[in-house]
Amino acid sequence: MTDWQELEHKYLMNVFKRLPVTIVRGKGVWVWDDRGKEYLDFVGGWAVNVLGHSHPAMVKALTKQARELIHVSNQFYTVPQVQLAELLVKNSCLDRVFFCNSGAEASEGAVKLARRYGKLNLKGAYEVITATKSFHGRTLAMTAATGQPHFQEPYIPLPEGFVNVEFDNLDVVKKATTGKTCAVMLEPIQGEGGVNVPSADYLKGIRGWCTERNIVLILDEVQTGVGRTGKLFAYEHYGIEPDIMTLAKGLGGGFPIGAILAKQKFSVFGPGEHGSTFGGNPLACATGYAVFKYILDNDIVGNCCRVGQYLFDSLEKLRSKYDFIVDIRGKGLLVAVEFSSEIADAVVRGCLDKGLLLNMVKPNAVRFMPPLIIGRREVDEALGILEKVLSRKSS
Ligand SMILES: Cc1ncc(COP(=O)(O)O)c(C=O)c1O
Repeated sequence: MTDWQELEHKYLMNVFKRLPVTIVRGKGVWVWDDRGKEYLDFVGGWAVNVLGHSHPAMVKALTKQARELIHVSNQFYTVPQVQLAELLVKNSCLDRVFFCNSGAEASEGAVKLARRYGKLNLKGAYEVITATKSFHGRTLAMTAATGQPHFQEPYIPLPEGFVNVEFDNLDVVKKATTGKTCAVMLEPIQGEGGVNVPSADYLKGIRGWCTERNIVLILDEVQTGVGRTGKLFAYEHYGIEPDIMTLAKGLGGGFPIGAILAKQKFSVFGPGEHGSTFGGNPLACATGYAVFKYILDNDIVGNCCRVGQYLFDSLEKLRSKYDFIVDIRGKGLLVAVEFSSEIADAVVRGCLDKGLLLNMVKPNAVRFMPPLIIGRREVDEALGILEKVLSRKSS
């Protein structure tokens, strides 16, 4: 039997802390490794596989589009790109879309758009205020935007123009705002930073401040968008509307795609001022369209809400049994469980051994981000495995 993990160590750059499993197949909420062992997938490709693995709606759209047109340059009009843009605009508070290929690219493009707005309308203001514990991607500029020193330190000096201030604190944003500020960029709920849910009035305060100072509010919904938190977009939880929003991850359900959405007033790119070879590719957009349409037509957001609440309540029951569970936080199917000590890696490995895929989001916290199509049965099964692992930790 081929040792794929040994070959990976030989041929790939050593950047991912991978678990010792080679996954070869997926169906619904399940995946199988190259030895035939099955796992319940509560990682969901890092909050990507919103419809699970190889969903028939995605496979149908992908194969149909592959037969018709896989790629053509943005020198021409294509139908799936327009169809997906229309669907996104009609179901959000934004008016215009630019398609790209990943979350980092979307968020970096959003910063370019805000800087363009600053140049045209704010006397050249270019600085973007972002939050500590945020995550906006791995390009150099998004590394500067990401308010976590351990991502930044290996690459200093970083591009200038970013100010990282404490998350969930309106005052520090106000203090950091100067004549150079063109935008505030935030995740409505921080994903990679540990699933940090801000207090109820924080984003409203930020929205008000941005409006008052005529600066741009960018919401990075790369992780929270497309139903993940129990609303189609997380801004809906907070009764606010962003000026610019970024999407990726769940948008393609597993096919790489990203998007920048903007209100008309902030849609200030002119011809040639931004672009992408693959962005808006027919295969990606046809798949994204099928995923989004399926979510709308089948009340997947409602399911996420209901099953997410069930997951939350079931985790609370576990918390009452194990005093080393110190916090449960999140919304919908983006949930973290925090422990009193750094046992997350051991918990993830213990669950892996028993057939459950979980993510360590912090040394002391695990994260749940399963497909949005899961039911209570899968939650019961996953938490049954988790409890077996936790009960060993407590004994
Ligand atoms: C909020 C947020 N923004 C941006 C990114 C970067 O996305 P990508 O890895 O597709 O570049 C991520 C990835 O985890 C994310 O969670």
